[in-house]
Amino acid sequence: GSAEQLRDGMTGRRPQPLAGDPPAEVAEVDPYRGADAHYGTLAALLADGRPEAVIDTLEASGLRGMGGAGFPTGRKWRFTRAATGTPRTVVCNADESEPGTFKDRLLLERAPHLVIEAMIIGGWVIGASHGIIYLRHEYEHARAVLEKALQRARADGHIGRNIRGSGFDFELDLFISPGGYIMGEETALLEGLEDRRGEPRNKPPFPTQVGFNGGPTLMNNVETFAMIPRILQGGAEGWKAHGREGYGGLKFLSVSGDVAAPGVYCVAAGTPIREVIERAGGMADGRSLYAFCPGGASTPFLPATLADTAVDFDALAEAGAGLGSGALFVVGSGRDLLDLAIQQVRFFRNESCGKCVPCRTGSAQAVRKLEAAHAGAPEEGLTDLLEALDETLVQTSICGLGQVALTPIMGLLRHFPDEAARLRRPHD
Ligand code: NAI
Ligand code: SF4
Repeated sequence: GSAEQLRDGMTGRRPQPLAGDPPAEVAEVDPYRGADAHYGTLAALLADGRPEAVIDTLEASGLRGMGGAGFPTGRKWRFTRAATGTPRTVVCNADESEPGTFKDRLLLERAPHLVIEAMIIGGWVIGASHGIIYLRHEYEHARAVLEKALQRARADGHIGRNIRGSGFDFELDLFISPGGYIMGEETALLEGLEDRRGEPRNKPPFPTQVGFNGGPTLMNNVETFAMIPRILQGGAEGWKAHGREGYGGLKFLSVSGDVAAPGVYCVAAGTPIREVIERAGGMADGRSLYAFCPGGASTPFLPATLADTAVDFDALAEAGAGLGSGALFVVGSGRDLLDLAIQQVRFFRNESCGKCVPCRTGSAQAVRKLEAAHAGAPEEGLTDLLEALDETLVQTSICGLGQVALTPIMGLLRHFPDEAARLRRPHD
């Protein structure tokens, strides 16, 4: 299956096949017991007829965007509903490509009905009659599962005209991404859907106002959608109660690297990172924890001393990183952290779309200089130059890729003096 095709971007090791994951991980967010009950939330909402109430519940739940940026979901839905113009569209960003991130794949393969249902609900709330699932092209098994789930939803009358006699029409299409990391950036994705070259647009305007074909577009990540039926079933307070230590809700993490049991884990918000590592079987091969990257390549490596930080957007931001897309990459003692960080920068260089000069040439320049340093010959003043380059990229890049291209190195400079020393000449 597709598990064979996926490799952990940084270790090159094959992750455990998803079949080995405890089914409980997905069951935690699935409010239904058995396929006959699927789409029950949608049915109840249509009968109740109060789309505003959906937005109120999402806002009260504190749900945030699980693609990586953590934008408040209820607010996004409110903005899109309030925006004027047509066409109105719901898009699921299923172009999961952040190195180390594979939780959306599990959700699509195991719980496609949750994503589909939340998209239909989204259409009803924002007044859209069309939705598009934008799927990563390598996710072949997810594609087959989704096609079947869509067929079934259509046959059962959850998609189509006059859904459950409510007068609400909704069609849902599957669109396969042409490929490339940047195509998952939401505005590049829209360009792709409109059959243009996949380059990010300037924001604002945000897709909530000007999205697919110029109309208001409600775009959320797979996991964000997948959590919505459960939240609407159990209410905002019920959802928040899943969290710990004052944090609310649940979070899927893709755990990889030096842990004994890499895989997808559903954890309570507020769970300390250290505990997540234990749940993933603890450190592998007798290594001790050296560093961890909490949210994918766009969040910096943090030292083991920060492993008590809670799984939460704000808590991890305070620790100097962020939750990102929830790709917890664990690095054990004895690993070459500088090499891992350079691999991440190389990834961004390779995936830069080239639209902005600083991102295109700056990332290439950084990789060349970092490779020289890794080989034992750092140029004079390299760390100052990298800091200045990072500042330029943050200020001038129009999308997140350029803004975070040097983040892996900045994390090393901030938290890992031994690694930073490898970037300096003795007299620097
Ligand atoms: P962003 O902060 O620009 O936007 C986040 C979301 O909020 C977007 O949907 C945006 O349209 C919306 N938004 C923000 N302000 C708004 C406003 N005033 N009105 C209406 N909508 C608003 O972040 P971006 O560039 O979309 O995402 C960056 C994140 O993506 C990074 O944190 C990274 O972790 C993650 N990422 C995830 C990947 C994955 O495979 N899951 C791949 C690459 C990056
Ligand atoms: Fe393309 Fe980089 Fe500019 Fe993003 S920052 S639009 S990836 S060149």
